[in-house]
Amino acid sequence: MTSYAVTGSASGIGAAVAGRLRAAGHCVIGVDLHDADIVADLGTPEGRSAAAAAVLERSGGLLDGAVLAAGIGPTPGPDRPRKIAQINHLGTVELLTALRPALAASGDSRAVVFGSNSATVTPGVPRWVVRALRAGHIDRAVRTLRLFGPVAPNIAYAASKIAVTDWARRAAVTSAWAGAGIRLNVLAPGPVQTPLLDEELANPAAVAARAFRAFPIPVGGVGDPGHLADWVMMMLSPAAAFLCGSVVVVDGGSEAWLRRGEW
Ligand code: NAI
Repeated sequence: MTSYAVTGSASGIGAAVAGRLRAAGHCVIGVDLHDADIVADLGTPEGRSAAAAAVLERSGGLLDGAVLAAGIGPTPGPDRPRKIAQINHLGTVELLTALRPALAASGDSRAVVFGSNSATVTPGVPRWVVRALRAGHIDRAVRTLRLFGPVAPNIAYAASKIAVTDWARRAAVTSAWAGAGIRLNVLAPGPVQTPLLDEELANPAAVAARAFRAFPIPVGGVGDPGHLADWVMMMLSPAAAFLCGSVVVVDGGSEAWLRRGEW
């Protein structure tokens, strides 16, 4: 039986991926804050260690794939930039690193990390913040992010997605990942109708909510979780054997529109 770990399995895109995998007859080990096979807070070191240990135990130390979809959006809230850094960046990088031996044990496995088109369409994200996140200096990153006032959560969100994308691309091509038969890639969605987006649009203080009406989506509307789950299934399939360190942008054309002329 093939086994896949899916974080964020209780909602939105992660839930759609878990559903697709189960329907195809695979064993899914879901990790989330609630309603999951493994309930853990990936925003804390203890939660990540407990989640990794439980996934390794349930999978018998052998995974065919891992999908890291747990994350939070840029809605304003107490200490939000820190939570974004801890969950979106560390909750992905540290958990996936802990699962790497189980993916390597398969000899031909896949890992899909969730980035965002925010990583490439958000202006003014300081490289310094990204470097601090990459080095695990969350306090330093958060101190700089405070200077951004009301847009701090948006900058933190984009920085977390840049950092996780950069980490995945660097790791993907090394002997520990590509050389061990693990195809590690990034899926970068644009706006998708999930509770994450609903929360952002419902919050009157959210900068993104105000800007949303002006955000271009050339295909004419937001995506649904199934659109993204289909791409994840492709990135977990044999078709992804030659896909390594790639960023697959699935965003209805927003990035192409906003960055047209850059090629
Ligand atoms: P969602 O809110 O529907 O699902 C996210 C899941 O992550 C939830 O079940 C939540 O409980 C879980 N989660 C949050 N914090 C956690 C923690 N500390 N520990 C364990 N689990 C935790 O969100 P959605 O939209 O399905 O997001 C999936 C991924 O896609 C995220 O990484 C998000 O940043 C990314 N994304 C989403 C976009 C959108 O418009 N929905 C756009 C671009 C990227």
